Order: sequence, then C-alpha cells, then structure tokens
Amino acid sequence: MAKARIAVVGAGLMGHGIAQVFALAGHEVTITDAVAQNLDTAKSRIAANLRDLGDDESAVARVSPRADLAVAVREADYVVEAVSENLPQKQKLFADIESHARPDAILASNTSVIPITSIMRGLQKRERALGTHWWNPPFLVPLVEVIETQWTAPQAVEWTMELHRAAGKKPAHVKKDVPGFIGNRLQHALWREAISLVENGICDAETVDAVIKASFGRRIAVLGPLENADLVGTDLTLAIHETVLPAIDSRPAPSPYLQKLVADGKLGFKSGEGFRKWSAEEQAALRAKVFAHLKATRDA
Ligand SMILES: NC(=O)c1ccc[n+]([C@@H]2O[C@H](COP(=O)([O-])OP(=O)(O)OC[C@H]3O[C@@H](n4cnc5c(N)ncnc54)[C@H](O)[C@@H]3O)[C@@H](O)[C@H]2O)c1
Repeated sequence: MAKARIAVVGAGLMGHGIAQVFALAGHEVTITDAVAQNLDTAKSRIAANLRDLGDDESAVARVSPRADLAVAVREADYVVEAVSENLPQKQKLFADIESHARPDAILASNTSVIPITSIMRGLQKRERALGTHWWNPPFLVPLVEVIETQWTAPQAVEWTMELHRAAGKKPAHVKKDVPGFIGNRLQHALWREAISLVENGICDAETVDAVIKASFGRRIAVLGPLENADLVGTDLTLAIHETVLPAIDSRPAPSPYLQKLVADGKLGFKSGEGFRKWSAEEQAALRAKVFAHLKATRDA
C-alpha cells in the first residue's frame, strides 16, 4: 500500500498505540491532544513500547506531535479519533476536524460502543466517515473492526481495510452500525452470563474465570464458536440450545448484582475490590501476565 499521511487525534492509551502501529508501517503520522502533557509524552511512550517489543525504534521519527488540531489534520489522507468516550465531545470534534481536513480525507472514530451513525450524523460529507474499533493495546491485539454506516462509501471501507491490513492488523468489516459492533457484543454476551452465574449462587467469580480459562478459553484463539459448532455438528448444537438457551440470562439491562457493586464503590482494580478483592501486587501480576501472553502470541 502507498504511504499515507495519518493524523491521530487523542494521544492517550489508544491514540499513542495507534500512532505507533501506523508509524511502524512506514506512514507519516501527526498526533494531537487537548492536554499538553499527554502530547508531550506521546513520542517517549511510543519509543519505550517499540524498544520493549523489539520493533524498529527509528519508526518514532515518523511521529510528529502537533498542539493545534488544524495543523495536525490539514494534510492528512486519514484522520482517526481516539479521545474520551463522550458523544457530544466526539460530535463537536468531528465538526472541527471536517472544517480543517481535506475534503477527500477519510475520518474514523475509535469509539468502543457509541454508534458511528450518532457521531458522524452532523458531518457535511458523511460518505467518508466510518468507525475503526481497535483493541487495547493496539500494537498487540490484531483485530480492528471497520464499521460502515448507511452513508459510508464502499471505497472508503475498502481503503481503510487495506490500510490496516498492510499495517499488520486483522481488519473485520462490520456491515451494519449496531451497538457494540461484533467483538463487544460477543464479549458482553459472555460477561452477562458470567455475572448471572455468580448472582445466582452457582459458583463464585474466581470459579467462573477458572472454568473459562481451563476449558473453551484454551481453544478459542484457534477455534471460533461457529467453527466449533460445525466441528461438533449443527444437530448437536441445536440439541444443546434447546435445553440451555431457555436457562441462560437474557435480561436486556445490566444485572442488579453489577449495579450494586458499582453503587457500593466496588469498582474493581481502581478501588481494590470488584467481583473479587485485588491487592496492588495481584493487580500488577495480572496486568503483566496478560501483556506477556499478548506479546508471546502477537504474530500467531
Ligand atoms: N482503553 C481501551 O481499552 C479502549 C479500547 C477500544 C476503544 N477505546 C476507545 O478509544 C477512545 C480513547 O480511549 P483511551 O482509553 O485512549 O482514553 P484516554 O483517556 O487514555 O485518552 C483520551 C485522550 O484524548 C484526549 N482528549 C480528550 N478530548 C480531546 C479533544 N477534544 N481533542 C484532543 N484530545 C482530546 C485526552 O487528553 C486524552 O489524552 C475512547 O473512545 C474509548 O472508548 C478504548
């Protein structure tokens, strides 16, 4: 793919990692942030990541921090937004981006769950707008969901898919702009049932996680659920669903158990207790374990 000029808006957890991936792929990247300190540290964070991963450290030279949004986006072929998960802020930002960017630049949002349609509704040229949902950390998790809206031009989707593919990511085309896209719908269907099992006294939180990690969690990186259904047979899958689905949680709202945890200030790592208690050492150990696993499997 020809080298492109990329602008990343938001230099936080996701933004600096997205900039890193594009710079490593050889693109020129500008990055901007409303908070000076977050912008000032972006290059050093990228350099540290590249060093830690054993990637080409010279890629950081292709990243140019720009304090002014207009300067950051005005020459870009592609602008990706990774600012806070707040709809009015994202809507205002895209209006600003559109007023400064080239008319043919593709505009993307990295929102986790907000429908792209809501974010891009006010744009003048909605055919060049889409979603690109990355996963944390962007330089280790391969998937990027590329979400089209009812207005997105097919060429914008194809170009964006190829941009990410050529940068070593695994883009997945989401053909309808539904809340949660694909990955988070699947993930949170599982989380809802996991919470329900604890809420109904069937097992404790530690056991839910242990069961998953010691069973289908072992296979899931190489065997998706629909491959698995074909492997065991759709007839067996149907028989299982006839018995199990009526018993599985299908409530359309967050679990009262989860709501109570939040109301009680049991917010997980940030308060030291959520579904389970977490010491600072246990938190650090779990983060390190996940990072080491993702590093070891990133080329799989
Ligand atoms: N953290 C994740 O695991 C994850 C995964 C996928 C998608 N996302 C989504 O990516 C986006 C960014 O998440 P994050 O975790 O990187 O957040 P973050 O808080 O780490 O970073 C957001 C950055 O945006 C900056 N910012 C806020 N408003 C701005 C504006 N108007 N202009 C310029 N900069 C602005 C902030 O100063 C901050 O540096 C969110 O929409 C989030 O939902 C996050």
